[in-house]
Amino acid sequence: MRSEFVFTRMAEDAAKEVENLKVDGEVADVVNPWEVTTSSATGVDYDKLVERFGSSKIDDELIARIEKVTGKPVHHLVRRGIFFSHRDMHTILTLYEQKKPFYLYTGRGPSSTSLHLGHLIPFIFTKWLQETFNVPLVIQLTDDEKFLWKDLSIDEAYRLARENAKDIIALGFDVNKTFIFSDLEYMGQSRAFYRTVCRVQKCVTFNQVKGIFGFGDSDCIGKISFPAIQAAPSFSSSFPEIFNKKADIPCLIPCAIDQDPYFRMTRDVAPRIGGKKPALLHSMFFPALQGAQTKMSASDPNSSIFLTDTNNQIKNKINKYAFSGGGATVEEHKEKGGNCDVDVSYQYLTFFMEDDAKLAEIKKTYTSGELLTGYLKKELIGILQPLVAAHRERRQKITEEEVTQFMTPRKLIYDY
Ligand code: TRP
Repeated sequence: MRSEFVFTRMAEDAAKEVENLKVDGEVADVVNPWEVTTSSATGVDYDKLVERFGSSKIDDELIARIEKVTGKPVHHLVRRGIFFSHRDMHTILTLYEQKKPFYLYTGRGPSSTSLHLGHLIPFIFTKWLQETFNVPLVIQLTDDEKFLWKDLSIDEAYRLARENAKDIIALGFDVNKTFIFSDLEYMGQSRAFYRTVCRVQKCVTFNQVKGIFGFGDSDCIGKISFPAIQAAPSFSSSFPEIFNKKADIPCLIPCAIDQDPYFRMTRDVAPRIGGKKPALLHSMFFPALQGAQTKMSASDPNSSIFLTDTNNQIKNKINKYAFSGGGATVEEHKEKGGNCDVDVSYQYLTFFMEDDAKLAEIKKTYTSGELLTGYLKKELIGILQPLVAAHRERRQKITEEEVTQFMTPRKLIYDY
């Protein structure tokens, strides 16, 4: 009797879940901090996501304004629409024009020793923002989050945070302007940070986090209160050492769009705790080797190229797994051409090939069928092998002392 009841309930829940996913009668893409999937081979429908989340598209007008204000061409990740959505970016540009301060905040959940290419994207762009606007940056390593969600001990989560910090430092962030912190460490050191966490916690009900994140009755209470910890770095009052106790310095958060639920919540509570709503820049996901239906995931080694992969591993993974939008045979390919919208090697080139003219030429000749998949893959391998090798070399040179330096709370320099 009982088990039957349980099963009926489970079936009902499953049906309800599918129903919840429907938007205008269609099954919508799943995009949340823990899962990204779509049934479409061309990947998530980002226009619909902008509508559903209520953010704004990064349009030509905003790009033109960024270029005018900074006096230089925008990063290719913006130009190519990979950073495609924002909240309040115009406000940040106005502040910059008026020479008023703001700061950058981004983060990473350290769930594995080695990062993959997808993890690099927000950090590469954040570095460009830091250099372009000359502003301080805080990087949150949510080792507490990974302890709560994964099968990891506290010690192991903290160890991974420090290991990941090395990868981040190896990208070339300026130590005078960057504070990297582990939640497990900094939460115990900073009175101010914990006070912000409590203020946020007081403003959000269980009902609200259930609605935003889908938490259920059997999720541990650590998970339920975690969003307040990811919200806290959006407020300068959490970092009195850095900002000279100024509590009202606005924040800009570059992140992949799956993190938006945290910051919708943050923006909602901001006025109630006397803080400013953080601005956001959202990126698309970095597709898995197997195709854009899902993103690269560290827990599936064959879906990802890791920053620790050897030249041979990179070559083999791309040749073996990178989903091809080309024809099944050479004849068919020459006749019908390749499809860049689903071709993973082409997608990766849009993230990593800097030469716009060359990329356009590849798109044209691949689409017409002149260029074969093999060539596209060779081109990609030729870019990724030296990129990953150079990263590996820089990372090896990062010492524990340097990590500690980045992770020590201190005043950061900003002077524009
Ligand atoms: N939750 C993020 C992850 O699992 C880590 C994170 C914390 C983050 N704060 C952030 C990401 C701010 C982007 C911006 O990867």
